[in-house]
Amino acid sequence: MRDALGSVQSVLVLGGNSEIALAIVDRLVASRCKKVVLGVRSPASATTTLNRLRSAGVDADTIDFDALDPASHTKVIDAAAERMGDIDMVILAFGILDGHAEIDTDPVFAARVVQTNFGGAVSAGLASAVQLRKQGHGTILSITSVAGVRSRAENMIYASSKAGMDSFSQALGDALIGTGARCVVVRPGFVHTHMTEGMKPAPFATTPDKIADTVINGLQKNKEIIWAPSIMMPMFLTLRHLPRFLWRRVSAT
Ligand SMILES: NC(=O)c1ccc[n+]([C@@H]2O[C@H](COP(=O)([O-])OP(=O)(O)OC[C@H]3O[C@@H](n4cnc5c(N)ncnc54)[C@H](OP(=O)(O)O)[C@@H]3O)[C@@H](O)[C@H]2O)c1
Repeated sequence: MRDALGSVQSVLVLGGNSEIALAIVDRLVASRCKKVVLGVRSPASATTTLNRLRSAGVDADTIDFDALDPASHTKVIDAAAERMGDIDMVILAFGILDGHAEIDTDPVFAARVVQTNFGGAVSAGLASAVQLRKQGHGTILSITSVAGVRSRAENMIYASSKAGMDSFSQALGDALIGTGARCVVVRPGFVHTHMTEGMKPAPFATTPDKIADTVINGLQKNKEIIWAPSIMMPMFLTLRHLPRFLWRRVSAT
């Protein structure tokens, strides 16, 4: 339950090892968040994070979560609510990005990317919305990507999965108006995390900590869409409208 200052006190991270999400959690914990549940595929993978959070006085736990198992998502949210009481924030932070050549020539793997990034966001987002509506408050923080603003030939599967997630999240936010709950879209540019290890950094590449600062700032300002870093907004709103022949050239460099 949010306190009198409206601060987040409990958070559920779906994709609980995400470096971006954990940087956001660190800031929430430094404020007034006292309960954290990490939704992960393997509890052992989150042991270090759990120990770190617990030694900071946080009531932290893991819960089994697989984005590729939509039938389980309502149970995951219910179990998290039982564990924490009201859930003030759900962060949709899971995702796969892989070698683009590999994705684009492997239809089965490409389908898995879409099922994880988009399908998982839809089922987990809807299950979260049921709980937040019932509570009458709470935020779904949906981490999409600037990649989804305009897909490139080189990242067509990841980018289109993120475009789907972004479009769904905006509409979910609209559907939640008047319920007390909300869905906020975060659109990061290139961030140095496990996901992008070994990749050539894109312009304005940044760190999870800087993204998290921008997210917290955006939340405090009640933004519905948070571009991180904020330079991504003018950049991608321009790029989105380039004629296709120009976009092909620009995006290939
Ligand atoms: N890094 C970037 O440049 C960037 C830019 C824009 C948007 N994003 C988005 O930001 C979000 C967080 O990414 P990150 O950079 O923090 O990367 P990350 O540290 O690699 O985190 C991604 C997380 O997704 C989880 N995951 C993958 N498949 C899953 C599944 N089937 N079920 C449950 N969890 C699953 C991974 O779990 P395991 O630990 O079990 O592998 C991992 O914890 C992602 O949605 C990503 O698309 C990232």
